[in-house]
Amino acid sequence: MAESVPSCPTVSAAEPPPGDRANAAAAAIAELRARFEEFDWYHTQELAPGIVTPGMFDLRGYVDHYGIPQDLSGMRVLEVGTFEGFWAFELERRGADVTAIDIDRIQQLDWPPRLRPSEDRQRGGAFALLAQARGSSVKRVGMSIYDANPEALGGRFDLVFCGSVLIHLRDPMLALERMAELCRGELILCEEYAKSFGLFRRPGGGAEFRGESPWSVWWVPTTRTWEAMVRCAGFESVRRHRTFKMRFRAAPGGVPHVVVHAAAAAKPGSIEPAE
Ligand SMILES: C[S@@+](CC[C@H](N)C(=O)[O-])C[C@H]1O[C@@H](n2cnc3c(N)ncnc32)[C@H](O)[C@@H]1O
Repeated sequence: MAESVPSCPTVSAAEPPPGDRANAAAAAIAELRARFEEFDWYHTQELAPGIVTPGMFDLRGYVDHYGIPQDLSGMRVLEVGTFEGFWAFELERRGADVTAIDIDRIQQLDWPPRLRPSEDRQRGGAFALLAQARGSSVKRVGMSIYDANPEALGGRFDLVFCGSVLIHLRDPMLALERMAELCRGELILCEEYAKSFGLFRRPGGGAEFRGESPWSVWWVPTTRTWEAMVRCAGFESVRRHRTFKMRFRAAPGGVPHVVVHAAAAAKPGSIEPAE
């Protein structure tokens, strides 16, 4: 997940005047071509004919597995842990007004002490270039989900979308509670699940602890445990949408994932700003 990027703005998808948009996109594509090798790509995305980012995962074939409504027009959507923005751009393509959060520095990741790198680096540069190349209006905010709340992000969201983030967090329950507070509509969560662990069918479910794994994965719950965690965080109508294997783009094997859908609970004393 490392990214060798010199710098990036916190809110990166700046709005150029309409006349400048095409020029800005062309400049971003030229810069991407020049700096392609600088990035350790995570997402596989086609930006322009001949420019496809060689990500660790190619999610394009899995989009339908997540159960995202086709039309998100008029909806305020939050993506948690956007990385290079694959999902934020997809949500925007469906008509949503998208805010995407991610941390801005690699030291902000939840490293276990022995794996914490000595250096620090900026993150988000690839997102900024891709957003400009696409002419995207997604607002990327450099913020940990631990610190995210409706006051900081301009109110609650009709849809909160989170893919493959919680397994990398020391405290996935706190993150889920933050999402519950931020959500006034639906949650779509997709995470790796513990497949063989689940086969033992422990009555209370459970989670594998992988604290010092090379990918900085902390907890990998069973599917039932993910559902219980989402409910425990305050969501209602929790349902398993589907499971699937997310294959590596250029290596054998893959990672079992579960998609969980849930609804926000009614919130007393809502702090929604007036429309
Ligand atoms: C494995 S990538 C998943 C990217 C994308 N969400 C997807 O589904 O393909 C995990 C992302 O979570 C981000 N992340 C890690 N800790 C975070 C935190 N505390 N708050 C927000 N994002 C975080 C990482 O920076 C990274 O971009």
